[in-house]
Amino acid sequence: MCGIVGYVGSRVATPLLIDGLKRLEYRGYDSAGVAVMNGKGVETRKAAGKIAKLEQAVELDPPMGTLGIAHTRWATHGPPTTINAHPHASHSGDIAVVHNGIIENANVLKRSLEARGYVFRSDTDTEVLAHLIEAAYAGNLEAAVIEALHQIEGTYGMAVISAKEPDKIVAARKGSPLLVGLGDGEYYLASDASAVLTHTREVIYLDDDEIAVLTRDGYRILDLDSALQDKPVSRIDWDLAQIERGGYPHFMLKEIFEQPVTVTDTMRGRLLVDEGFSKLGGINILKDDLMAVDNILITACGTSWHSALIGKLMIEEMCRIPVAVEYASEFRYRNPIVRPNTLCLVISQSGETADTLAAMREAKRRGARTMGLVNVVGSTIARESDGGIYLHAGPEIGVASTKAFTSQVVALALFTLKLARLHGMEQEQGREIAKALADLPAQIQNILDRAHEIEEIAEEFKRASNFLYLGRGYNFPAALEGALKLKEISYIHAEGYPAAEMKHGPIALIDEMMPVVFIAPHDTVFEKVVSNIQEVKARKGKIIAITTREEDALEGLVDYEFRVPETIDLLTPVLASVPLQLLAYYIAVKRGCNVDQPRNLAKSVTVE
Ligand code: AGP
Repeated sequence: MCGIVGYVGSRVATPLLIDGLKRLEYRGYDSAGVAVMNGKGVETRKAAGKIAKLEQAVELDPPMGTLGIAHTRWATHGPPTTINAHPHASHSGDIAVVHNGIIENANVLKRSLEARGYVFRSDTDTEVLAHLIEAAYAGNLEAAVIEALHQIEGTYGMAVISAKEPDKIVAARKGSPLLVGLGDGEYYLASDASAVLTHTREVIYLDDDEIAVLTRDGYRILDLDSALQDKPVSRIDWDLAQIERGGYPHFMLKEIFEQPVTVTDTMRGRLLVDEGFSKLGGINILKDDLMAVDNILITACGTSWHSALIGKLMIEEMCRIPVAVEYASEFRYRNPIVRPNTLCLVISQSGETADTLAAMREAKRRGARTMGLVNVVGSTIARESDGGIYLHAGPEIGVASTKAFTSQVVALALFTLKLARLHGMEQEQGREIAKALADLPAQIQNILDRAHEIEEIAEEFKRASNFLYLGRGYNFPAALEGALKLKEISYIHAEGYPAAEMKHGPIALIDEMMPVVFIAPHDTVFEKVVSNIQEVKARKGKIIAITTREEDALEGLVDYEFRVPETIDLLTPVLASVPLQLLAYYIAVKRGCNVDQPRNLAKSVTVE
């Protein structure tokens, strides 16, 4: 989604800003722009499309200066054109603004500004901000920004520069992430740490309703009453190699192949195999309080919501505590039941998804204790939750989530193990789960070593127009996730269903043109799944089965088969999802799709 980069120092700003934008490319965008103080005023370049287009526009006539702001846009108000690209200028052209988020009262403000003679050039809500700041300006940029922010409703991560104060960047945050990077005599601004990592590891994460004022001499963080804030400096602990492709043709493939390591990292120092227990230092909840939890709510979006469904099955089976799974976008706008002993698990790779963050705040407001399962260290959900489990999967750049999903399921299994043992699970059963977790990395590697088998299946189905994914029990969510992966990156219509539910409707779709992926490990529901496979076979559907062993019951039934190693039921979705990720990946590549940046999608959805 939209990205912001800013720089003030002694180096030429434009190449630094463009390099920062490139590091944000993975988030998904449709246009980009840059504004630099050139000694006389604000000089702006913008372009629709890829950053390469902006580079071309800049190369012809580069804006020269040592202070600037830049933006990648993901259209919300108005189409992705050059005019709608940020930065947006104020009426006089003295002020330039970049903005992530949505200004909800933009229309009302626009009408009142137009009545005062302000002329609007774009369709965006952001332009309102530029005019409002100019209207409020009385000699101090941060005061004008604060004055403008008091008038707007909505969300923002924003940065402003003004020809009247050419040595200053003012930035503000509400609901859209922003951080300040601390360099040596220079300061950066970014909506995502990857944009500043080549320059500094020391960052300050802004919280909502905070303003940052950056000059070459230093920085100040203020609140909306202009009071100075004392903010901690955080250190980014991942490195550049992790956000580069490392020889793989796509980030998605690299991330799929990283899973033996990422799953190990999620468990590192936490899994006690001999004791059959897990140690989760960050959950920040006393044993008595954890024991008092009598219901759990899990909220998330997209892939993270699929792992939440698996978490529900694990916790209910092993701990006998009722679990509700809620789409974050729905939870926030209804009147949900949160009881005094509700624990709310919040699952998010990015830790910045707007709906998930809002759902977490709503659960907190209603009295729930919150626990984040988050990948991005220092993200808003990680900081605002009462405690949590970092996934430690490293930066996930491909828009389609892969390694974060398997790490989420593993983190949920670690949590389930701990809770179940506290609730009386025998050590022997705990050991069995812990041992199965410890076996996962080698089992995933075994699947990856046979990726070419999946590539061959992909070749057969690359021209399909529809796909059905079916599974039962723990593998119904895996079916949903398999279908989501395929539709996201290949644009093939795909649906996930509980296998037995198929006969209540989707069975009407089955004919010889319909590929049906069955997730059929040898688990407690295997025989039931075989019956569902029979039903599809009888209607000539093409069957691709993810299985675990040679099964007489499947003899002559399936058209294509891929075997994954056996594990305990609750971990089967981890192993089943790896070939499904590969299937989606290879089909998309064979169809010529941009797998890392699929159309219309953003890595982190920071608007509602
Ligand atoms: C997954 O492949 C997606 N692109 C998407 O569904 C994602 O999982 C969702 O937007 C939630 O993101 P989060 O985990 O960063 O909160």
